[in-house]
Amino acid sequence: MDITENSGDKAGGAWIFGYGSLVWRPDFPFIEKRVAAIKGWERRFWQGSTDHRGVPGAPGRVVTLIKSAGALCHGMAYRVEGAVYEDVMATLDHREKGGYSLISLTLTYDGSTVEDPGAPEALVYIATEGNPNYLGPATLDHIAAQVRRSWGPSGHNVEYVTRLAEALRHMNAHDDHVFALEHLVLAE
Ligand code: SIN
Repeated sequence: MDITENSGDKAGGAWIFGYGSLVWRPDFPFIEKRVAAIKGWERRFWQGSTDHRGVPGAPGRVVTLIKSAGALCHGMAYRVEGAVYEDVMATLDHREKGGYSLISLTLTYDGSTVEDPGAPEALVYIATEGNPNYLGPATLDHIAAQVRRSWGPSGHNVEYVTRLAEALRHMNAHDDHVFALEHLVLAE
């Protein structure tokens, strides 16, 4: 199927870009998936999770995106058909309700830094500073300790880190932040 500009509606469907749990556990119907990246963004374990990998009062840490000039964040892009678009978005809005909002970003497939006017837009869940569960920067040691002691309704926080790292390796995608954190959480 040709990649077309995402209109993000019932008629045209949409591309959805996942960079966290959506990489390894999309759990929604799609007609195509591709390893993709977004330019100018970096993945960080700066979002607190009280509904998936932690509980209220003891949040786990999950990923969000921060702007970073020249960076490339790899993930998985999924093409969702118009017929199921509204149902998929309702399910994902519920799943990502712990502080994420939806933005539209341009995908790249070859990591090129050259602007491609034909590149498709994708919907991306991002947790920005100011959402109630936002935790922000911390040392990797601090993040690792928090991940090691956290669990929630979706499972242990360590599993979130290791599944993401495994999925990125499988895609031949490198992410220093994720791989260094994986090393730390598995070190004990
Ligand atoms: C995503 O995977 O794209 C959003 C964050 C998450 O659900 O882990």
